[in-house]
Amino acid sequence: MIKLTDIDKYIDSRFQRTFILKGIDLEVQPGEFLTIMGPSGAGKSSLMNIIGMLDEPSAGEYYFFDEPVHKMREKQKSEMHKNFIGFIFQAYHLIDELTVYENIETPLLYKGVSSNMRKSLVAEMLDRFNMVAKKDLFPEQLSGGQQQLVGIARAIVGEPKLLLADEPTGNLHSDQGRQIMDIFQKLNEEGITIIQVTHSEENARRGKRIVRIVDGAMAADEKIR
Ligand SMILES: Nc1ncnc2c1ncn2[C@@H]1O[C@H](COP(=O)(O)OP(=O)(O)OP(=O)(O)O)[C@@H](O)[C@H]1O
Ligand SMILES: [Mg+2]
Repeated sequence: MIKLTDIDKYIDSRFQRTFILKGIDLEVQPGEFLTIMGPSGAGKSSLMNIIGMLDEPSAGEYYFFDEPVHKMREKQKSEMHKNFIGFIFQAYHLIDELTVYENIETPLLYKGVSSNMRKSLVAEMLDRFNMVAKKDLFPEQLSGGQQQLVGIARAIVGEPKLLLADEPTGNLHSDQGRQIMDIFQKLNEEGITIIQVTHSEENARRGKRIVRIVDGAMAADEKIR
């Protein structure tokens, strides 16, 4: 599904090149539930942004379902992102001016999904996450855990093949974190491939494989199930 070969990310200033990622080789098969771990500043978010096609590598090759992402134009990449990838952020990144309902609906509008289909898909998400009563509230009227549920609903409403989550429970209490890990495990059982970043060993153990990154390079790759 994902094949990264010798990926570098660097920033050039006048006299030196600073590496954020160096020589990353990573293959992910459909159905995996992979956790990326590593110290703060190791390059985890940078790698997630490249995998999510929100940023591009400085060098190396990236194949997504055998398509060469490293050769794609911006427009093609945003099409791929829109159609195949759901992204969940630590800081929720909901749109403050939109209701819960509208936030969840947004990716479907971008995808050009018909009005009837949108209604039924959003209703399904609200139901699934027990948020029907909250659908007309704005993000600031929700708790952190509830906002992240909306973030997850928004990420999966378009039925992505790949769910990327960069510290999705970083701002939550541990029981809220557990609830989100339960949801991830369920989604993975339903067939969605998941890559998450977490600092929590407990959350990492919910996945099937742990990749560790130190100073922008792969330091370990461990299958746990
Ligand atoms: N646009 C940028 N310009 C310069 N340096 C950057 C840029 N983006 C990231 N970096 C640097 O790259 C390194 C890796 O950052 P990244 O956000 O990927 O780390 P991380 O592993 O996600 O850390 P954390 O656990 O704190 O989220 C950091 O040293 C950061 O300062
Ligand atoms: Mg990060």
